[in-house]
Amino acid sequence: MKATAFLITTSLSQALAQVSSHPFPWSAPGPNDVRGPCPMLNTLANHGFLPHDGRDISEDRIVSVLNNSLNLDDELSQSLFEAALTTNPDPNATTFSLNDLSRHNILEHDASLSRQDFYFGDNHDFNQTIFDETRSYWTTPLIDYKEAAQARLARVNTSMATNPTYSVSEIGLVFSYGETAAYMLIFAEGDGTANRTWVEYFFEHERLPQQLGWTKPQEIISGSVLLDTTTAIVNASHASAQEVTEMMDFVNLNAG
Ligand code: HEM
Repeated sequence: MKATAFLITTSLSQALAQVSSHPFPWSAPGPNDVRGPCPMLNTLANHGFLPHDGRDISEDRIVSVLNNSLNLDDELSQSLFEAALTTNPDPNATTFSLNDLSRHNILEHDASLSRQDFYFGDNHDFNQTIFDETRSYWTTPLIDYKEAAQARLARVNTSMATNPTYSVSEIGLVFSYGETAAYMLIFAEGDGTANRTWVEYFFEHERLPQQLGWTKPQEIISGSVLLDTTTAIVNASHASAQEVTEMMDFVNLNAG
């Protein structure tokens, strides 16, 4: 009897393990699907968690998807949704589409980690040359804050040197640091480090690196968790005092 119970329990837990490690469905965008400059939202659309056509994403959908797939808390997702809504050209819109996010200098900014600056043309599709510059700063299998900060700074320096129209708004700056913090959190392995193989796979394929062993973060990612990691990236960047003041003013203004 005991042996039978053991067998049942063992097969049940094996079956459950198989269910949870079963790869999420994924398919590349088709000709009528829209995508934008955010590799994570593109990824979630490629998996069909967000509408595969990338259009008309509602607040309810984004909140539940970011919670179920990445463990973001609802409040953080709601503020990201509000920011996204400002990129829809219709002022009465209640949804946004992924290509709305490409509108320059609303949220989309210069010196992205994997996209060209708007000045050079396509500011939304993945660009291997740009990404190769970024990833050349990730010199160890676990990316630490310093490597992440240096990769971001290198892109800023390249943009400043090559793009005569280079500029970054306050919200652009917050997003820029926040995006680096976001990949460090979602693909975290160990304390304050992210798994380089997962991060590279995510950027290059716009697919969650589940088959490489990644699973949804266990810790809930709230606004304050994101802010702590963003601050760690700012500190590791030795950002100018003015940049830090601008960032913190912006965050405090919006938290109040
Ligand atoms: C509603 C939620 C979100 C919105 C509205 C949003 C929006 C954006 C936008 C507008 C950009 C382009 C910035 C640029 O010009 O480089 C971007 C980039 C980025 N986003 Fe998202 N995002 C969201 C959620 C996330 C999440 C959950 C992650 C988690 C990893 C993420 C990771 C990134 C990264 C790493 C980049 C930088 C891409 C690059 O620099 O090449 N985003 N996002």
